Amino acid sequence: MEAKPFGNNFVWGAATSALQTEGSLDADGRGESVWDKAYLQVGAGDESYKKIDEDVALLKELGVKAYRFSLSWTRLFPEGVGKLNQKGADFYCYLVKTLLVNGIEPYVTLFHWDYPLALELKGGWLNEESPLWFEEYARGVGRLFNGLVKNYLTINEPQCFVGMGHYEGSMPPYHQYRGQDLAQVIHHVLLGSGLAVRALRASSTLDLKVMMANTYLPSFPADPMNPDDIEAARLAYLSPKFNHALFSVSLFADPAFLGHYDRKWLAHLKIGIPYSENDMKIIQAGYDYFGINIYNGYKVTFKKGQPALVPTPDAPRNSLNWEIHPEALYYGPKYLFERYRKPIFITENGTCCSDKIVEGSVHDLLRIEYLKDYLKMLGNALKEGTPIAGYFYWSLLDNFEWNNGYDPRFGLVYVDYEKGARRLPKDSFFYFKKVIASDGCEILKDQN
Ligand code: GAL
Repeated sequence: MEAKPFGNNFVWGAATSALQTEGSLDADGRGESVWDKAYLQVGAGDESYKKIDEDVALLKELGVKAYRFSLSWTRLFPEGVGKLNQKGADFYCYLVKTLLVNGIEPYVTLFHWDYPLALELKGGWLNEESPLWFEEYARGVGRLFNGLVKNYLTINEPQCFVGMGHYEGSMPPYHQYRGQDLAQVIHHVLLGSGLAVRALRASSTLDLKVMMANTYLPSFPADPMNPDDIEAARLAYLSPKFNHALFSVSLFADPAFLGHYDRKWLAHLKIGIPYSENDMKIIQAGYDYFGINIYNGYKVTFKKGQPALVPTPDAPRNSLNWEIHPEALYYGPKYLFERYRKPIFITENGTCCSDKIVEGSVHDLLRIEYLKDYLKMLGNALKEGTPIAGYFYWSLLDNFEWNNGYDPRFGLVYVDYEKGARRLPKDSFFYFKKVIASDGCEILKDQN
């Protein structure tokens, strides 16, 4: 019999985030976040706040070992800091306990972009106290879940919320910082995350595992047998030439894992980031895993002594027009492990399709193909020695896809927004269920 491609202890999971799924923004004393205005324009959402039992039942049926979800900071601390909102705390304690009773490990993200409006009005991540606000929040969470939660993610995708929200100005809070302001924001986010790791560990009696979820586009070789192309792919993902805005893994991960900022990126952004030795100690927080969200990637070759992009106009695309490149889940973890030497956790991967209900079912074959192809690549990386601890599919549910509203559907479960956010598992849900139950053997079926 063929050996299990992911072993027996691989952590199979599904992910969501608070603002994208909870709805009930005004319920039980929740404070406003920077996203609320944009969000309220598009509707009430998935109503996960009200349907928590149903959602946990879905997770149980899916058979996941872990559920990654984020806390709405302002449900717990409506003003960002200060007094705990007991009703918000009760809600999350109920969710955590319900997961545990059902044998599902909670992976709790502290911050998935819904920054407290009250803190934003004080300058947000630009304010030099912002790392301390995040630390205080983390301490409150650590105390609340002490003895229950073992796995935390501090922040989700600094590349996106700093890059789009504080540099490009294309998502809330719509800043276009440059120079010293940009440098401060990057530094404060990393300091905040590091302080949060300390605060979580100090307020919990359990042996916590903590990570950050980074993101980027992995580069992969045009010819996987050609050593020059392989070297080109190994270099390209680090170069500002191939990365839009701040979509750089090294800008945020080098300080956290290697203890210094990536000079190429600082030069590219024309910034310097002054820091003390102590700051860098805090930033190198001792993360247990390298968490990474990977959706797509790009092909490179070696030309005139350097990496060059190979356009792939015929690549299949998802409904957001992102190219689909399963190789990203092989080369991404492999190169990240080479550079950062930490076991990898795929904290998000998935695709959006134009899903429709047809006679009571959703036949999302494209998502099934995506899962099969990407997971095969991930399994190959693991087999060849890249340590990969787990995989979260994004997302359990269709949800609010930020600036793109409700059209892109990423879920394993269809959400019918016309009918009170009714849940309907798609065909991919049942496929992923088989993948999990077989510890990945299912993806090896029908190989040709
Ligand atoms: C990530 C983000 C998620 C989700 C996903 C799909 O960047 O963390 O919240 O929106 O992309 O686009």
